[in-house]
Amino acid sequence: MKKSVFATAAVASIVASNMAVAGPEAEVLHWWTSGGEAKSVAVLQSEFADNGGTWTDMPVAGGGGDAAMTALRARVLSGNAPTAVQLKGPAIQEWYEEGVLADISSVAEAEGWADVLPASIAGHMKCEGTWCAAPVNVHRIDWIWANADVLKSNDIAMPTTWAEFNAAADKLMAAGIIPLAHGGQAWQDATVFEAVALGIGGPEFFKKAFVELDMDTLKSDTMVEIFDQMRTLRGYVDSNFAGRDWNLATAMVMNGEAAFQIMGDWAKGEFIAAGKVPGQDFLCASTPGEGYLYNVDSFAMFNVDGDDKKAGQDLLAKLIVGQNFQKVFNLNKGSIPARVDVALDEFDSCAHTSAKDMNASNEAGSLLPSYAHGMALRGAQAGAITDVVTAHFNSDMSSADAVEMLANSVANSL
Ligand code: BGC
Repeated sequence: MKKSVFATAAVASIVASNMAVAGPEAEVLHWWTSGGEAKSVAVLQSEFADNGGTWTDMPVAGGGGDAAMTALRARVLSGNAPTAVQLKGPAIQEWYEEGVLADISSVAEAEGWADVLPASIAGHMKCEGTWCAAPVNVHRIDWIWANADVLKSNDIAMPTTWAEFNAAADKLMAAGIIPLAHGGQAWQDATVFEAVALGIGGPEFFKKAFVELDMDTLKSDTMVEIFDQMRTLRGYVDSNFAGRDWNLATAMVMNGEAAFQIMGDWAKGEFIAAGKVPGQDFLCASTPGEGYLYNVDSFAMFNVDGDDKKAGQDLLAKLIVGQNFQKVFNLNKGSIPARVDVALDEFDSCAHTSAKDMNASNEAGSLLPSYAHGMALRGAQAGAITDVVTAHFNSDMSSADAVEMLANSVANSL
C-alpha cells in the first residue's frame, strides 16, 4: 500500500527535477457532457494538469450513464480498461467482484477519508473493507425546478402536495404553458417515478419497495396510486417529449416554454451555467412528501499496468476528495460536497436546503438511496423496475397491470 504513495512521490520529484520521464496519466471515462457537467469536470481536469497529470478524456454522452456503462463493459471485456471511471452505488461492488478494481486504500488512509466522509457515503466506497472508489458529491434526486416568472404571472406557488402540483399543472395547461418539461428516456421516467413513489408512499414504503424489494409492498394499493400519479403526469408533458435529453428539458423551463421539471440537482448546474439565479430566475423545492433521495457520484480506478497510470490513479483519487475540488466542483455541478468539512458559505439557497434536509433525513431515518440512479439496487433489479415504469408511461397500461408486471419483473430478476 505504502508503495504506491512512495511511487507517486518519487514520480513527482523526478518530474520536478525536470528529467524526461512520464508523469501521472489518466484516461477518464465519464458521462458529464451537458453545459453544467462539462464545466464541472473541467475543474478536475485543470487540477490534474496543475499537478503534472496528463488527462485523456473519454466522455460518453447520455444522461444517467447507461451508455457510459455499456462502453465500460466493452473496454473491460477487451482487456483494455480505462484508468478511472465514473461509477457509483452497488455497481462499484459488482465490478470489484469481477476482480478488476484497483485498491486505493493507501491514498484514502494517507488523506484521512474516514474522518471527513459520513459513514453512509464511505460505505458505498468500500469493497470488503478496502477503499475502491472516491466520492465526488451528494446529488439529491427529489427536486422540482420551476421558472419563477411563469409561476408568478400565473399566480402559482411552488406545490407542496401532489394535489397542488396537479392543480397548478391544470391551470398552466389552460394558460397554454407546458406544465412539465420531461425527456422520454427510461432513466428520466425512473427519476420522476421514484420522486412520486417517495412522496406518495413515504420513506418506509420506499425502503421496502426499492431497497428491500418486498413483494407485498411492490404489489400494494399504494403502488397503484403511484402509477395513477404517473399517468396524470404523462398528461402534463408535451407531445415532443420522446427521447429528449434532460438538459433540453431544463432549457424549456429556463426559457419559459415549460413551468416545472422533476430532476436531480444536476439541473441546477445547467441553470447556473446559463447565468440564472436561484430564487430569482428559477425556484427549487423538494418534491412533495418526506425524505431525501441521495445519489453520490464517485470514481473507481481499474487495474492497469504502468507506473505512470498508477500514479495518475493515486493523484486523481487524492484530488477528488480534496477540500478545494469538492467546493469548486460542486458549486458548478449543482450538488453538495461529500466531505463534511467544506464550508457552504459560497453555495446557494438550494444547496443549503439540500444540506439541511439531508441532515434532518439522516436523523429521521428517511435518508434513502436513489434506485433510479444506481444507488439502491444492482443493475438487474433496477433495470427490471425501470422497464415497467417506462412501459407504463409510454402506453395506456392500467396502474393495476403495471403493478402486476412490476412484481413479476422484479421476481424474475432475482
Ligand atoms: C449522475 C449525475 C449526472 C446525471 C445526468 C446522474 O446519474 O449522478 O452526475 O449529472 O446523471 O447525466
